[in-house]
Amino acid sequence: MIGGRLLITGAGGQLGRALVEEFAAEEVVALTRAEWDVSLPAPPGLDPDLVLHAAAWTDVDGAEDDPQGAAAVNVGGTAHVAALGVPLVAFSTDYVFDGRKREPYVESDGPHPGSAYGRTKLHGEAAAGEQAWIVRSSWLFGPTGHNFVRTMLRLGEERDEVAVVDDQRGSPTYVGHLAAATRDILERPYGVWHVAADGDCTWAEFAEAIFAAAGLRCRVRRISTADLGRPAPRPAYSVLRSEKGAPRLPHWREGLRECLARLA
Ligand SMILES: NC(=O)c1ccc[n+]([C@@H]2O[C@H](COP(=O)([O-])OP(=O)(O)OC[C@H]3O[C@@H](n4cnc5c(N)ncnc54)[C@H](OP(=O)(O)O)[C@@H]3O)[C@@H](O)[C@H]2O)c1
Repeated sequence: MIGGRLLITGAGGQLGRALVEEFAAEEVVALTRAEWDVSLPAPPGLDPDLVLHAAAWTDVDGAEDDPQGAAAVNVGGTAHVAALGVPLVAFSTDYVFDGRKREPYVESDGPHPGSAYGRTKLHGEAAAGEQAWIVRSSWLFGPTGHNFVRTMLRLGEERDEVAVVDDQRGSPTYVGHLAAATRDILERPYGVWHVAADGDCTWAEFAEAIFAAAGLRCRVRRISTADLGRPAPRPAYSVLRSEKGAPRLPHWREGLRECLARLA
């Protein structure tokens, strides 16, 4: 499917950077927020053949305070990308589900987001139009940007103990693995695809694995979502699997190993 000019939006974000690396051999135009604020129509002359749309409002709690601001990016931004009139990959999230299921969510499961962020991402999926691969992933982490792995590495150096939520279960997905799988998605039909790491865990289990792998002696105190008291509700269970043959990703522990090797 690749051939021609590839536009990557949100190129300064953690997934955007991984996509820029993965597709480095192609003719790529990579735009950060400073170069194209996607809540505005596209600047003239971009003329891509394919768009990997990784720009998004990802501040889940902030979206509760400013749902219109989040929608301007996640819905309006995706509509502006779709208006370029070429095929696109629109990245979406496990947070389109409410988390009441206790077995993996597959593509045919009905979405029912519990947060403003999840609602804007779901509306963004619709705004992507018909020439779109909707790639839902979960709990992204990588060597750059704001993510749980980097936060835990910092806290693990500073503290003897951290309190981490133990009643949300998902699949932490390494952005390098998702970027590589995006190449395979382009060989499949348009539509919704679930692409997340193999295996699952809670945030507390993930934190313990991070500390063990990084040789940090920090303890994890397991707390509940209610204890943490964040403004936006999160799904208690949001493991994603594919019922239609999406590319399989390595286990999250392998992703963690690769991420830590990059950071070393
Ligand atoms: N992070 C996760 O756990 C997760 C899980 C599932 C799905 N996803 C989805 O995966 C995709 C990539 O997320 P990510 O983790 O790479 O997020 P990220 O690191 O926050 O990157 C998002 C990028 O979009 C940029 N951006 C924000 N508003 C913009 C605007 N108006 N115009 C242009 N760019 C804008 C951000 O720039 P600034 O930094 O300057 O704001 C940032 O560089 C998103 O669609 C997200 O919803 C993320």
